[in-house]
Amino acid sequence: MKFQMTRDINSSIYNDSLTIRKTVFIEEQQVDEALEIDELESQTLHVVGYDEKEEACCTARLYEKETGMIKVQRVAVLSSHRGKCYGRELLNAIEDIAKSEFNAHTLVLDAQDHAIPFYEKSHYTVYGGPFLDANIPHHHMKKEI
Ligand code: COA
Repeated sequence: MKFQMTRDINSSIYNDSLTIRKTVFIEEQQVDEALEIDELESQTLHVVGYDEKEEACCTARLYEKETGMIKVQRVAVLSSHRGKCYGRELLNAIEDIAKSEFNAHTLVLDAQDHAIPFYEKSHYTVYGGPFLDANIPHHHMKKEI
């Protein structure tokens, strides 16, 4: 898998990211479009993974919450591409990018509960209690890198 990143919301990479997010979060998970596409779009770093056929198949965005602390958001793999370790490759790429672009020491994210074991396999740990976001049960998770 090849990863590309952009901060430019007029770029084709951002457009590829949004196409995946619309399919996964808005269509598949029924998240409200107004919640999914928010005011942080132009303040975040968007990462897209392309498979061997150059098809955009996974994405995430990174938000610098505070110096060295990056919030990983909108992690998604197209359903046709799940279970092939693309999600794990995406998390590995995010870690490299967080270090190189932000000199990050900590990654945090809000995990949908069903995805907690997926993040645990990449050594993220849960902290704090449960909460709802877009009506979906979540927990905070973090990883020191
Ligand atoms: N429950 C338990 N384990 C899971 C899992 C799940 N829902 N999803 C993945 N895993 C495990 C895999 O079994 C694999 O472990 P293994 O190597 O020991 O077998 C490991 O995590 C890596 O899996 P991978 O194939 O890289 O995951 P994926 O490409 O299927 O992507 C998601 C996982 C969660 C990103 C994907 O299912 C997705 O996009 N879901 C919809 C959007 C979403 O919910 N995003 C998370 C928002 S917080």
